Amino acid sequence: MGTEPKLDLSSGSIRVLLIDDDEDDRFLTEERLGDVPGRPYTLDWTPHYAEGLEAICTGTHDAYLLDFRLGARTGIELLRESRARGRAAPVILLTGQAHSQTDLEALDAGADDYLEKAGLTSALLDRAIRYALVQSRAAAELERKVRERTDELARVNEALREADRRKDEFLALLAHELRNPLTPILNALEILRLANDSGDTVRRQRERMERQVAQLKRLVEDLLDVSRITTGKLRLAPERLTIQELIDSAVDMSRSQLEAAKLELVLNVPAEQVVLTGDRVRLTQVLCNVLNNAAKFTEPGGRVFVSVAPHPGRVTVTIRDTGVGIAESVLPQLFGLFTQVDRTLSRSQSGLGIGLALVRRLVEMHGGTVTAHSDGPGTGATFTIHLPVTRAA
Ligand SMILES: Nc1ncnc2c1ncn2[C@@H]1O[C@H](COP(=O)(O)OP(=O)(O)O)[C@@H](O)[C@H]1O
Ligand SMILES: [Mg+2]
Repeated sequence: MGTEPKLDLSSGSIRVLLIDDDEDDRFLTEERLGDVPGRPYTLDWTPHYAEGLEAICTGTHDAYLLDFRLGARTGIELLRESRARGRAAPVILLTGQAHSQTDLEALDAGADDYLEKAGLTSALLDRAIRYALVQSRAAAELERKVRERTDELARVNEALREADRRKDEFLALLAHELRNPLTPILNALEILRLANDSGDTVRRQRERMERQVAQLKRLVEDLLDVSRITTGKLRLAPERLTIQELIDSAVDMSRSQLEAAKLELVLNVPAEQVVLTGDRVRLTQVLCNVLNNAAKFTEPGGRVFVSVAPHPGRVTVTIRDTGVGIAESVLPQLFGLFTQVDRTLSRSQSGLGIGLALVRRLVEMHGGTVTAHSDGPGTGATFTIHLPVTRAA
């Protein structure tokens, strides 16, 4: 590290506390530190365990020299206790004699160093204290930097969350603003249609506008739904209905798309009524989204199979097509927002990658599940929707 903290070595500037119940040791240590060139140390002394502990924990000094023996207690105990309470300044344990077990124990208990009292020269003592000081200041500096970075990350994170929330708000606003002009345009087209006083060319152009505006409206409605989902404002209007009614209206609504795609629709729906409780508009939307995808991703001449299978407590709707299929690697993301496997598809067919996200959310809000399956590109795709039923009548 290039920025090691510098020690102030002017006379008396490093305050050291000796915690040692033997006053002879105190005089000896005072002598040793006094011999250090420049006399940078000031030495204080306490023979009491409790006083020493308090001093270490409140950080009264720059460094602490701690005797191994402290009356009935030991320096190791004091180390452990001070560490549990948190301390900043370095502590050096003074041991009576070389004893590797004690040394290890000292380091383990959190001593920054240990010194053998016998043969302790002023140079050794000086070096140990300085080294411990530099080390602990570097550690403190590192900790400060980590804390700084962590705070910064938290701030960035917060800013991102805020930006995301603003994006959601913007999306909602955008969708509303886009929708506002659509209704008058659709009304005007309807008036033109009813007036019916136009020639062929005008009629064709009017119908073309009707189709395009209707498509625009669908996209905008999807956008609105997404913003309702992300803000948790999507509400259901549940009623009793049958799966047959749902399939009928979904097929009705998707018929023009299936026909435009030149697909054959194969229905396999049991005559026996399956009753469920749900939002008619939303469940129809679910089936339509899946049907429209089948139309979108299946070559002309292909087929779409819709089958219904009642089970105890639930009903399964399976929509299978003979289209382009889905690679296994994309299946897990398929129901995520804005997921589109192939964005190069003809833009007249394009969507926003919202449909299946809505499908999953709506099905789950009804207590059901939806899964997608494909054996890979070119093999078609199967969507399976399970919904809880009220009762099979
Ligand atoms: N029946 C299907 N066959 C093949 N791929 C499909 C089928 N249904 C959906 N997909 C893939 O899943 C993606 C997401 O579908 P969807 O959420 O409805 O968005 P969009 O229709 O707007 O692209 C599609 O872009 C397509 O890649
Ligand atoms: Mg779609």
